Amino acid sequence: MKNIIIVGAGALGQELAWLIEEINDNNPEWNILGFLDDFAFDNKKSILGYPVLGRYDDYLSFMDSFFVVGFGDAVLREKIIRKMNSEELKWANLISPTVRVHRSNKIGKGVVIGRYTDLTVNCTIHDFVMLNIHVVLGHEVSVGQFSIISPNVTVNGGGRIGKACQIGANSFIRDIEVGDYSVVGASSCVIKNVDPESIVAGVPAKVLKVGRPNTSISRSEREDAQ
Ligand SMILES: CC(C)(COP(=O)(O)OP(=O)(O)OC[C@H]1O[C@@H](n2cnc3c(N)ncnc32)[C@H](O)[C@@H]1OP(=O)(O)O)[C@@H](O)C(=O)NCCC(=O)NCCS
Repeated sequence: MKNIIIVGAGALGQELAWLIEEINDNNPEWNILGFLDDFAFDNKKSILGYPVLGRYDDYLSFMDSFFVVGFGDAVLREKIIRKMNSEELKWANLISPTVRVHRSNKIGKGVVIGRYTDLTVNCTIHDFVMLNIHVVLGHEVSVGQFSIISPNVTVNGGGRIGKACQIGANSFIRDIEVGDYSVVGASSCVIKNVDPESIVAGVPAKVLKVGRPNTSISRSEREDAQ
């Protein structure tokens, strides 16, 4: 069994604990050491029966373990991962045993794929992507680093999702490009290219905001981190 630590003990972090339990039920692979989370460390000793081991920065004390990041905000996810990233750190790929992936797909490191997701053929899933449950990716879809695709999303063959995008639940993305750092609202139908840093929603999707004002870190912070 390999030791694993979940960074972030919020809702998504807890769902990741469940995913790891599901993987272990199929084939015992991971020993969950616990969570690292600043807020939880000040308020709780354990979550879902797993200890809160420390704050985010305490990852340095667990360099022999694998890590997975449980942040549901793609930009915050990028920030934390860039801060932690080093050659020595081991990132887990967590893929539910119910996922179907053809051998022609390319999957990076630190990737999480939830229950009943299907990747058809020749897709490229870049590092640290999260594909939630019941996602369907058509042929040759590419999903950029740090992006998060919510439950029940379908991406048409040839669709391209940029870096650190957030695709809302139940949406359909045609064979278009969603620019880096963009957000697609829940239950949207996206039929035209989306400019970077835009928030779009609706059927068909229209631009709500440009500049992704709700993002948790600024452009200058992102550039500093690169
Ligand atoms: C699109 C989204 C990011 C916008 O959030 P926001 O910036 O806080 O926007 P607001 O809630 O202030 O809404 C702004 C306008 O957009 C509309 N709107 C918001 N979400 C919408 C959606 N999904 N589809 C269509 N219109 C939407 C609102 O009705 C409002 O319209 P109005 O100005 O005419 O009243 C958010 O509503 C959303 O859909 N998030 C995805 C949630 C999700 O799927 N999470 C994953 C869970 S696993």
